[in-house]
Amino acid sequence: MKERIVFVNDEFINETEAKVSIFDRGFLFADAVYEVTAIIDGKILEWDGHITRLKRSLKELDIKMPIETNKLLDIHYKLIDKNNLTEGLIYLQISRGEDDRSFDYPDSNVKPTIVLFTQVKSLQESNLSKNGMKVISVPDIRWARRDIKTVQLLAPSMCKMMAKKSNKDDAWMVQDGFVTEGTSNNAHIITKDNVLVTRNLSNDILAGVTRRSILKYAKEAQIKVEERPFTIEEAKNASEAFVSSATTFIGPVVEIDNKIIGNGKPGKQSLRLREIYIGESMKEAL
Ligand code: PDD
Repeated sequence: MKERIVFVNDEFINETEAKVSIFDRGFLFADAVYEVTAIIDGKILEWDGHITRLKRSLKELDIKMPIETNKLLDIHYKLIDKNNLTEGLIYLQISRGEDDRSFDYPDSNVKPTIVLFTQVKSLQESNLSKNGMKVISVPDIRWARRDIKTVQLLAPSMCKMMAKKSNKDDAWMVQDGFVTEGTSNNAHIITKDNVLVTRNLSNDILAGVTRRSILKYAKEAQIKVEERPFTIEEAKNASEAFVSSATTFIGPVVEIDNKIIGNGKPGKQSLRLREIYIGESMKEAL
């Protein structure tokens, strides 16, 4: 693999030379937030949504936004350019910074650590969107502030591995009998009455940037939307199911806990929404 140019703190640097301190609180406490933004044709999708959520995540953790939005956008453009990225993603992470290990937050003069890197990925053409995903349900073992996009991702990673060990693609996490999310995506169903049901926003789930746009486009396409929790049983009996995220856009789900959804193929409405989503978000891409 060709070595990338990444961004760490104030400089663009070869990935093999990029370093972050062992005392960084992102490393010791998962005291860091992140965003993943899709790139298609060298353009950034959903910039406003990601930057707005980034600021909110930082605010919830009392980390001062350490860089101006325009400067951050410029770093995105430079990374796309330096790495000749046409399709894939940009990962952005901001941690509270480096200090002696201590449970209380350090003084506000500690400088946050900023890391960005590119990753090549085929987003528009993907096997999962063509064939659909198979998911299992697992207990949601994550913490209670999932609305903050922190790098504390071991629990969803463990859930994902449970799915992989069962030869499935992902896990839908369940709390008190209701689906919260997929391991790195929002979960949705379309009922037999053609209603798109998706869990309402709260501290229990991440407010997906893709989710928000999809709900807008669904309403425009005359699909009724209900924001409320749903069970695995309801999902199994739905006419369609899908996930949404910056890097899958819409990923149709064709099996839940070994029960085939619909005819076992990606649902028509899910594919239609996927197409609308890609088309519309490309129009507004920067
Ligand atoms: N994950 N829920 C969780 C738990 C997520 O990690 C993500 C995104 C989403 C979807 O949010 P958005 O539509 O804004 O991407 C929902 C990213 C892609 C990741 O961790 O790689």
